[in-house]
Amino acid sequence: MIAMAKAGLEGFIAAETTLSHVDGAHGRLIIRGFPVEELAPQASFEEVVYLLWNDALPNAAQLDSFKERLASQRALPRAVMRLLRDAAARRLPPIIALRMASAVLDVDQPDGEVREDAERVLARFPVIVATYERLLAGQAAPEPRSDLGAAANYLYMLFDAEPPRDRVRALDTYWNTVVDHGLNASTFAARVIISTWSDLTSAVTGAVGALKGPLHGGAPGPALDTVLEIGTPEHAEPYLRQRIERGERLMGFGHRVYKVRDPRADVLNEAAILLEKTEGFKETYALARYVEKVALRLLEEYKPGRALQTNVEFYTALLLHGLALKPELFTPTFALGRVAGWVAHCFEQLKTGRIVRPESSYVGILGRSWVPLSERT
Ligand SMILES: CC(C)(COP(=O)(O)OP(=O)(O)OC[C@H]1O[C@@H](n2cnc3c(N)ncnc32)[C@H](O)[C@@H]1OP(=O)(O)O)[C@@H](O)C(=O)NCCC(=O)NCCS
Repeated sequence: MIAMAKAGLEGFIAAETTLSHVDGAHGRLIIRGFPVEELAPQASFEEVVYLLWNDALPNAAQLDSFKERLASQRALPRAVMRLLRDAAARRLPPIIALRMASAVLDVDQPDGEVREDAERVLARFPVIVATYERLLAGQAAPEPRSDLGAAANYLYMLFDAEPPRDRVRALDTYWNTVVDHGLNASTFAARVIISTWSDLTSAVTGAVGALKGPLHGGAPGPALDTVLEIGTPEHAEPYLRQRIERGERLMGFGHRVYKVRDPRADVLNEAAILLEKTEGFKETYALARYVEKVALRLLEEYKPGRALQTNVEFYTALLLHGLALKPELFTPTFALGRVAGWVAHCFEQLKTGRIVRPESSYVGILGRSWVPLSERT
């Protein structure tokens, strides 16, 4: 008799990984052996991707050559540009445009070697999102710059100006912080797809589809909305009380795995502080910290013992707001970091060589007899 997993596969171990360790009881996240708080604020995104994909930090020559290869792959094929223009004419949300463009981004080189596919995906994802954002704004997208790293080039393409160093540092820290997180839903989706020996582009496209759901990557927008709707400190307590009393959930609090503070929240908070020069950010940041304090007090009052703590989305919202990104870019920007984790899991899954194929338990009717169409009422 095969054991039945809990709904949502909660508590079920479905893979072994050497990529990241999510320690929910102690509030720790380890990426390839490094505590996230040590790695994320110091490394560039490319260094962390190299670490994930190769299980070692790159030396200077390895990093330069990795960055050069990525930069040389940024130009989008004409078919992708056509698709983005059509999507912008229909004003589709950026996460939908990314899901669509992801599926065709290898049109110029299908059936490539898996490592080449990986570099192409990583290089083109941010270019797709930034290009689409500019098309939505009715502007011509600037060409990607091969002399900039991934974070700097993304911000350059979004805002048509070379970004200040503090913003590049903040985005590198953000992507490093969210790059991998155990067997979350989108990562699992990518592993299932690649386990059939399908191609990497298919795996990451499926993963974008999983990420975009509001139960997974869609929460930071509403978390920011809450802070902005509250507007001033004196509104915080009545507003939050009312929402909890109506049975609503406060976005940016609580977590399925972490029962203590999400370690990523502190890393992102430190990075957000760097953005104090962004116009209006200091006020929003101060208000958000106050809202957080009140929310934690009220959650303890209304839900005693549930250990509801601030999660990664609360500070994601603040950090991306500090980078002057619009809320509809929050989920796609999350995808640009997490895609490196999806790819790393695909490499790991391919090594096992085994298709992911669980079983289902049939609970339907047995013993029906066929009735020809003409005799059915
Ligand atoms: C993340 C989340 C889905 C985890 O859910 P979970 O582990 O299944 O938690 P549970 O649903 O078992 O919640 C336990 C209790 O706390 C309450 N609760 C959980 N998160 C809450 C929140 N953010 N605000 C208010 N109440 C919350 C639940 O209503 C439940 O109350 P009850 O026992 O009286 O029914 C949940 O905390 C949530 O919805 N948070 C808000 C959305 C969010 O920030 N998502 C991003 C996650 S990184």
